[in-house]
Amino acid sequence: MKVIHRIAELREALAAHPLRGFVPTMGNLHEGHLTLVRQARALAPAAQGGVVVTSIFVNRLQFLPHEDFDQYPRTLERDAALLEGAGCDYVFAPSEAELYPEPQGYKLHPPAELADILEGQFRPGFFTGVSTVVHKLFNIVQPTHAFFGKKDYQQLMVIRRMVDQMALPITVVGGETQRSALGLALSSRNGYLTEIEREQALLLSRTLKAQIAAWQAGRRDVEAIEAEAMKALADAGWQPDYMTLRCQRDLGAPVDGQALVALGAAKLGRTRLIDNLEF
Ligand code: PAJ
Repeated sequence: MKVIHRIAELREALAAHPLRGFVPTMGNLHEGHLTLVRQARALAPAAQGGVVVTSIFVNRLQFLPHEDFDQYPRTLERDAALLEGAGCDYVFAPSEAELYPEPQGYKLHPPAELADILEGQFRPGFFTGVSTVVHKLFNIVQPTHAFFGKKDYQQLMVIRRMVDQMALPITVVGGETQRSALGLALSSRNGYLTEIEREQALLLSRTLKAQIAAWQAGRRDVEAIEAEAMKALADAGWQPDYMTLRCQRDLGAPVDGQALVALGAAKLGRTRLIDNLEF
């Protein structure tokens, strides 16, 4: 495995490989990321000229000024060792000067109905930042397959829509959310949690489950179900942003007989966590 910092060098290394699996990340890797890398490896076997590329880049464009861009953990050496173990061939870890040599004036704005709700409502511009960097990374790596986790459910939908609407010749593969033994969705931001908070953090997925149980018990007063979930978290000292039931297809209001998803985001102490469960 090789760690590459320069766009030109990566392009040269990849030139001979027609089959390219790509996993974009911001580093500080955990089993969620590594599962995607193994999926990529399986779909792009070396025996068929396949190559697996993982990018590590903390993308300033997708952080609001008050968010944790500076604090975000940068652990390249450890990440590289984990990636080697997961079967990655190339780590692309550009500097900011390499990826954004001048202010990124050209940006990709995803459709408001998908990107200005939920995460986009509480993190304005987030999905523009994500779409812009992912599109740029796609242009650099030119993958045949790209892998994204369902943990970031709305992000996966935004990327799928981008690939669709911009006719990018890339197959997007979604990976299941990886969790700790107790059920906490793995996240680089879990490292911010104290030991006590780590236990308290389980309340987020438990509350999503309670919302699902309410729907499955036949309740259709969705606003009340959501308000109860918000209150359960607030009563436990969290600051919830949203706790909601939606259609998987378009994140619209839940409809009987459709595949649904419960999505939530809330701050525990100074750490903002998100999670979701399909049902
Ligand atoms: P990051 O948070 O590092 O996540 C990289 C990829 O790993 C994303 O596709 C994310 O959904 C997936 N992932 C994270 N935790 C996961 C878990 N517990 N189970 C399964 N998959 C998980 O998402 C980003 O980086 C950035 O927005 C990025 C797409 C790299 C653009 O900057």
